[in-house]
Amino acid sequence: MRVVVEEDTEAASRWAAWQIAELVRRKPDAVLGLATGGTPIRCYGELIRLHREEGLDFSRVRTFNLDEYVGLAGDHPQSYRCFMNEHLFGQINIPLENTHVPSGTEDDYDRFCEAYEDAIRAAGGIDLQLLGIGRDGHIAFNEPGSSLASRTRLKALTQETIDDNARFFNDADQVPVLAVTMGVGTILDAAQCLLLAVGAGKASAIRMAVEGPVTSQVTASALQLHRQATVVLDEEAAAWLQRREYYDRSERARRARLSP
Ligand code: F6R
Repeated sequence: MRVVVEEDTEAASRWAAWQIAELVRRKPDAVLGLATGGTPIRCYGELIRLHREEGLDFSRVRTFNLDEYVGLAGDHPQSYRCFMNEHLFGQINIPLENTHVPSGTEDDYDRFCEAYEDAIRAAGGIDLQLLGIGRDGHIAFNEPGSSLASRTRLKALTQETIDDNARFFNDADQVPVLAVTMGVGTILDAAQCLLLAVGAGKASAIRMAVEGPVTSQVTASALQLHRQATVVLDEEAAAWLQRREYYDRSERARRARLSP
């Protein structure tokens, strides 16, 4: 697992955006796995800047989002579809039909989830999956106890996640308690995983995910089993890492090898 620590939130978010931009330049029809929440907003802001100022072209990119609240239609202001349209899709040149966010209003979720997995496979699989992390170590909505082999399915949210997400709703009672989410197994199938975490609130989860045992109690720890997983952090999110010095040394060696 590659661990990159940048000096602040802006720099970590830019770094994540540049990895995505580099892929899109190299592979204009790349398949991106995307996340919502507070964390990726600055990263998306940098992608929008690169599109506007440097012509980064998203016209052939395809995207699949990790998750959606069950019970919210795509036009609900707190739906993840709305979030993505507002914070990214509506500000770059990606055709909306190339973007996929799980639906929050299906009758038959078994069929829907299977079709979502089929659509990812039909697109050739996800080239790069962007992830955030919950304070309990979840990725997507794979809460503690989720199978590390899980696929797209419905999950109940923990009280901690409901409380964390209440800040996006007017009233805590309005936070949905169920979500449709890619599974840990779905995420691990991506060719590359990029987890972005910023702020002191994520330091404990990052310590568990990066240096703790691989366990379904901290689903982000499954990334330790991935061949190409990178965790990019700001100083605050990295604060509890025990082997920080080693990660920095590895990163310096890597950059020295790559620079001419
Ligand atoms: C959102 C998602 C979640 C968030 C996580 C962190 O699509 O998959 O796992 O990444 O809950 O959320 P923030 O970034 O709001 O702290």
